[in-house]
Amino acid sequence: MSTRILGIESSCDETAAAVVADGRDILSNVVASQIDIHRKFGGVVPEIASREHLRQIVPVVREALAQAGMHFSDVDAVGVTQGPGLMGALLVGITYGKTLAAALGKPLIGVNHLAGHVHAVFLDAHKAGRKVGLPAVCLIVSGGHTVLYEVKQKTSQPYSDGGELQYRKLSQTRDDAAGEAYDKVAKLLALGYPGGPILDRLAAVAGNAQPPIRFGSTKTRGNPLDFSFSGLKTAVLYHVRETPEYAGEIAEREAALQRGDRSFEHLLPLCSAKTLNLIREFQNAVVRDLVERTLLAAEELSAETVLVSGGVAANSQLRATFESRARTAGLDVLFPSRALSTDNAAMIAAAAYPSFRAGEFADASLDADPSLALA
Ligand code: KG4
Ligand code: ZN
Repeated sequence: MSTRILGIESSCDETAAAVVADGRDILSNVVASQIDIHRKFGGVVPEIASREHLRQIVPVVREALAQAGMHFSDVDAVGVTQGPGLMGALLVGITYGKTLAAALGKPLIGVNHLAGHVHAVFLDAHKAGRKVGLPAVCLIVSGGHTVLYEVKQKTSQPYSDGGELQYRKLSQTRDDAAGEAYDKVAKLLALGYPGGPILDRLAAVAGNAQPPIRFGSTKTRGNPLDFSFSGLKTAVLYHVRETPEYAGEIAEREAALQRGDRSFEHLLPLCSAKTLNLIREFQNAVVRDLVERTLLAAEELSAETVLVSGGVAANSQLRATFESRARTAGLDVLFPSRALSTDNAAMIAAAAYPSFRAGEFADASLDADPSLALA
């Protein structure tokens, strides 16, 4: 009989529940996104996020069980995100998870959200019948994180058999996360929230004309694997402020967003060639930085595989560049599917499984930890 873990995720603006069997097979994966609610504020509002989680948690968990064809009594353990994330948001999932585990008399497992993102790649690799060669270098790149880890097996028990993984942090961003840079640049160009998906599509139709400004590689003193994106965002801001021609189209797009016309099809005709070229140059700089430093880490550690996870891993140029560059370097590169790139609970249930096997259970004192470290 398989071990069925109910995963619960509420660290940011997605209320999610999922059931995963033996850490590998997704039986259900339900995500209630709050994006439409936070959009009008141009970012996640923590207070609203926790209230929304409170509203959603019960129906989302019920739906996850229904889709898996299970009753509460069929759950073998409850895995819940302990951190990192927003305090008030995390508390909703943890309180619910704790109560449920106690009521069912089943083990409770506190999961690090970042370990979840690593496991998202493992879940899809399993589905595709691919083995993940370890050691790996994992880039987690989202709206809240840009961080590189070394991922190894902790014991002789293989990860594919529920063996625990060992993480070592190699570097992180010194300022903004890459997704945050996307969101801020989209905001200053009046392209709505979240910024990543629309900038990704606009960059793809930009063509190859000369960009209005060139962004060089970001230099970071100290650890060469560290990232930094706030300088790039500020360079875009100054360029836009100093170039009066952008003002007219920005005002038009602002008006379109006010009317609710926020789709790619609505906004593309309101973007000049110059704006599209600027966006492409911004994306080139972000992708170059992410890929260069990740591959440098992979080379230094003689890694077999590169794993890329988190919301920005959905970026089409990032995927294509990683794939071609990794192939040249003789590395395997794995991404989660788009559904598992962004926050979800299947990755939390999967990450809980090795702890379940190792008997590492939490008790009623489990508390939210907004800055919980993975390593
Ligand atoms: O992992 P996620 O859903 O939430 C957290 O931040 O934890 O990631 C959301 C972030 C946002 O900043 C969004 O703009 C970015 O991922 N994003 C993208 C793309 N899709 C989402 N960034 C670049 N290209 C994309 N296609
Ligand atoms: Zn996340």
